[in-house]
Amino acid sequence: MKALILVGGFGTRLRPLTLSVPKPLVDFGNKPMILHQIEALKEVGVTEVVLAINYQPEVMLNFLKDFENKLDIKITCSQETEPLGTAGPLALAREKLIDGSGDPFFVLNSDVISEYPFAQLIKFHKSHGGEATIMVTKVDEPSKYGVVVMEEGTGKVERFVEKPKIFVGNKINAGIYLLNPSVLDRIQLKPTSIEKEVFPKIADERKLYAMVLPGFWMDIGQPRDYITGLRLYLDSLRKKASVKLASGPHILGNVLIHESAVIGEGCLIGPDVSIGPGCVVEAGVRLSRCTVMRGVRIKKHACISSSIIGWHSTVGQWARVENMTILGEDVHVCDEIYSNGGVVLPHKEIKSSILKPEIVM
Ligand code: GDD
Ligand code: MG
Repeated sequence: MKALILVGGFGTRLRPLTLSVPKPLVDFGNKPMILHQIEALKEVGVTEVVLAINYQPEVMLNFLKDFENKLDIKITCSQETEPLGTAGPLALAREKLIDGSGDPFFVLNSDVISEYPFAQLIKFHKSHGGEATIMVTKVDEPSKYGVVVMEEGTGKVERFVEKPKIFVGNKINAGIYLLNPSVLDRIQLKPTSIEKEVFPKIADERKLYAMVLPGFWMDIGQPRDYITGLRLYLDSLRKKASVKLASGPHILGNVLIHESAVIGEGCLIGPDVSIGPGCVVEAGVRLSRCTVMRGVRIKKHACISSSIIGWHSTVGQWARVENMTILGEDVHVCDEIYSNGGVVLPHKEIKSSILKPEIVM
């Protein structure tokens, strides 16, 4: 089977992290987002993943070359010369997606995180005989997503409304699809939205089905959702007990610490923290609800909560970093600084406190 991952878009909502790498390469739980997806696809027998991309394909391909071998899966790019939306890229990659077997193929939004229950999706798709299956999940605030109204029991979709202005329902499109090759005949090679132009039509013909996604789900394309997503992800690791979460008197709740990270004496870490490879966390540091990416140094007695610390940054001693502070790559926060929601561009030195949420250029 094949899969296409929609990688386009500039990931502006996840700046300044996406100033250093394309969004799918931003680390999440100590692994680039897209690797979570590729590994799960490999597990259900996908042999080729096509990345539908509209900028910097070299960066992606160079990075993923290693994983092609390690995971024994083919990874190719399909590059747009203009952004083709969420359906146009399928038309562009048509020849790659059709292999003559008649098998359905996966399509994924690159910024959604879940347990990727692909095996269940395949089983459900084969059982209903429709043309396309989308996974749906319940959320409290459906207006920023695609909303799906479906027949309970069969899963047949009655309506698909992208970003509705009035309440339609609370089951939303999770950005994970399994499509028959015939769906490609509905899409032309031009900028097209699968959510606005393709799914509503297939639903009208009663050939679109939805399956409620078991387990957690999050679109982690925005900082606040990214931090919530990490909590849900770590919680699911805890339930599966498949990855070793940290334990000990200095750990609270779910914490992921890379084996090469060094943690000093008298720290208190957690809940919902991930610490990447090569990080150094000095003595007496307090971390909660945060992601600390590869190569970061956090000096003595610093306190970080609800924040993301980008690659190779430094947080000075006694510094306090909180409230959705996002440090880009290689940022240096000086000793005793306070950051309340600062969004700091790469390679900056922060010498005075940031007292209210703002962008520091
Ligand atoms: N190749 C390519 N070209 N990819 C694109 C383009 C494009 O022109 N535009 C967007 N994408 C990719 C994005 O990178 C992302 O992976 C996916 O398509 C969806 O785009 P987003 O910009 O993240 O959309 P959204 O989050 O507002 O809404 C979508 O996701 C929701 C779930 O998170 C929709 O699919 C909603 O229906 C859905 O509920
Ligand atoms: Mg999104």
